[in-house]
Amino acid sequence: MNAEQVKQLLGRTVAERFVQSGMKLGLGTGSTAVWAIRRIGELLHDGSVDNIVAVATSSQSEVEAHAAGIALRTMNDPEIAGGLDLTIDGADEVDLCGNLTKGGGGALLIEKVVAYASRRVVIIVGQDKLVDHLGLKFPIPVEVVPLARMPVISALEKLGCAVSLRMAVKKMGAVITDNGNIILDVSLPAPTDIAGFERELNTIPGVVENGVFARLSAEIWYGTADGQVLQFAPER
Ligand code: A5P
Repeated sequence: MNAEQVKQLLGRTVAERFVQSGMKLGLGTGSTAVWAIRRIGELLHDGSVDNIVAVATSSQSEVEAHAAGIALRTMNDPEIAGGLDLTIDGADEVDLCGNLTKGGGGALLIEKVVAYASRRVVIIVGQDKLVDHLGLKFPIPVEVVPLARMPVISALEKLGCAVSLRMAVKKMGAVITDNGNIILDVSLPAPTDIAGFERELNTIPGVVENGVFARLSAEIWYGTADGQVLQFAPER
């Protein structure tokens, strides 16, 4: 199977396995989570499940949910009341302890809000995303208010990180998130206490949120090139 086929298999498999009628769902973002959204739409359409409402984590998942016929609410809607039954989402990296990096698609802030408000979180990734340490190969995205770009870059560089401003494609200038902020992609110089780093990042004035999910208790499922969907067992 190629990488795209693995993503499709993962999304479809977890949607079929975990989504039940009456659930309040969080809809993840990215090229893997999108397959779960599409499958949920099919399951609604053929009557396998009903009475589903969902919260989108990005403009991408909102558009996909509309196309799939999934009824959307906000986290503040009385029907959701700030809590979800299940969120299905992707990740950029997963370390040996099950800590995650997210935000490759720029949706980390809402993804974090939605994930931490969910009773159950199912993360789906290709096997290539399982790594020993986060932030060495794939940079950690940090969402920053635009006016704080330079002070935050200085603070991160003082911590020894390499920082780059995420630039847009098909638009000149920086990526602007769904929340009107910019993204700094931050590479670590060496393996670090990732939970401590997650906390430290959010103490820098101007940082809105970062893409480390170190305290999230999620089930992680990964797909292999030979078509298996397996549960990852973290070293806790
Ligand atoms: C979106 O901001 C991200 O957190 C994605 O969930 C993550 O980047 C994984 O995306 P892919 O499934 O496209 O690799």
